[in-house]
Amino acid sequence: MPDVLDSPHSAILKRSFHKAFPPAVRGEGVYLWDASGHRYLDFSGSAAVNFLGHGLAEIPAAMAAQAKDLEFVHSSQFTTPVAEEYAEELLAFAGPNFEGGGVFFTSGGSEAVETALKLARQYQVEVGQKDRYQVLSRSQSYHGATLGALSVSGNKRRREIYLPMIREFGHIGLPYCYRCVYGCAVCARKYADKLDAAIRSSDDHAAAFIFEPISGATLGAAVPCNGYLQRVAETCRNQGVLLIADEVMTGMGRTGRNFAVEHWGIAPDILVTAKGLSSGYAPLGAVIANKKVVDAIAQGSGALLHGFTYNSHPISLAAGRAVLARMQREHLVHAADSEAVGTPAAVLKQELLKLKDLEAVGDVRGIGLLWGVEFVADKKTKRPFPPEQNFAGRVAQAASKKGLLLYPMQGCVDGFTGDHILIAPPAVITPEQITWSAAQLKAAVLEALSKH
Ligand SMILES: Cc1ncc(COP(=O)(O)O)c(C=O)c1O
Repeated sequence: MPDVLDSPHSAILKRSFHKAFPPAVRGEGVYLWDASGHRYLDFSGSAAVNFLGHGLAEIPAAMAAQAKDLEFVHSSQFTTPVAEEYAEELLAFAGPNFEGGGVFFTSGGSEAVETALKLARQYQVEVGQKDRYQVLSRSQSYHGATLGALSVSGNKRRREIYLPMIREFGHIGLPYCYRCVYGCAVCARKYADKLDAAIRSSDDHAAAFIFEPISGATLGAAVPCNGYLQRVAETCRNQGVLLIADEVMTGMGRTGRNFAVEHWGIAPDILVTAKGLSSGYAPLGAVIANKKVVDAIAQGSGALLHGFTYNSHPISLAAGRAVLARMQREHLVHAADSEAVGTPAAVLKQELLKLKDLEAVGDVRGIGLLWGVEFVADKKTKRPFPPEQNFAGRVAQAASKKGLLLYPMQGCVDGFTGDHILIAPPAVITPEQITWSAAQLKAAVLEALSKH
């Protein structure tokens, strides 16, 4: 039988017909190996997914034990011990704001966002606000690939051709310090005021506002200026609009806090998380709702008008539960704190900031173990590279040949132009591995520039 891996044809409908995808066969710690034996350091945690490191035996062991006892039940007929126990643990992990709240488990981030959008709408109906159905969001954002999640996303490249198929509500601008048009002194107020105005002009039709506390893929770890999220939270609270924090990328310790909203002390009504929740060991997402939202449904109609066949899948939950236990046992949230002395995140910050000296690097930004490096053709004017040059993609390609995996993106300037890479390594990365990675990254940038 011919080796399918050697065949130029593939039965898989891949993300690109122009790119070669090496077959990955093994992972251990921060490393992945392809079938030809080439080793890669996973400097982006795939796509900000892996937080614990690859190849840990205890996670599949927990999944196998669960599968042996009970592989699946339908959530319309049963609950399970693993779901009940894990939901309690997650509520505690989410902090006092979610005491008495509830968790809805999904198979990933997009499903979790869809759930949050519908939950917000149902909440408003339950409390007698039947006209509130609009979900406002931000212009440079990504909330998922399904049509509902795309409708609240701002990422132009990812949604452009689907626009005729989706229902759109207001998209509001957001702080992006490197290219801010206002300046730090007034930026927080300006953008929060824009949200305030959008809610007012919705004429009491706004049900919720969804946001990434730290912009993930679209802007490349753009951290908002101080005061912005506090004002946003206040605006929503004052106007009866639910606050949905999309922490699919920033949650579960990635930024050095359990959830990124904790950096600004804000209390969303609904938290959405995925990626690091299972660290990639199983498809898993979660929506964590506060008591106000849960009570409105429990004391109202008493039925959640939503569900997937695979929500609360026991094997995925066993993986997530084992991931959370290990994360806490190994103090990985602390490891991801870039402001704490001597942590991997602090070393990462220090090494990445050195890249600012490079001619093609306009900005290095981020927090914890979530960083973005933005490339520019002209540092003085911040002029981006022409998009057709795919500079970020070329950096990632050069890095991959050197054994370093990055997450390249385009569109940070206006949705189409602007190049950046996202860096989000597992929290078990060592200082030596960080230094090595930063050196490879630097060499990859220089190589991409030399061929420019
Ligand atoms: C902030 C955010 N929300 C939602 C999603 C969608 O998650 P998934 O790809 O697991 O469906 C992503 C994925 O990158 C994300 O970064």
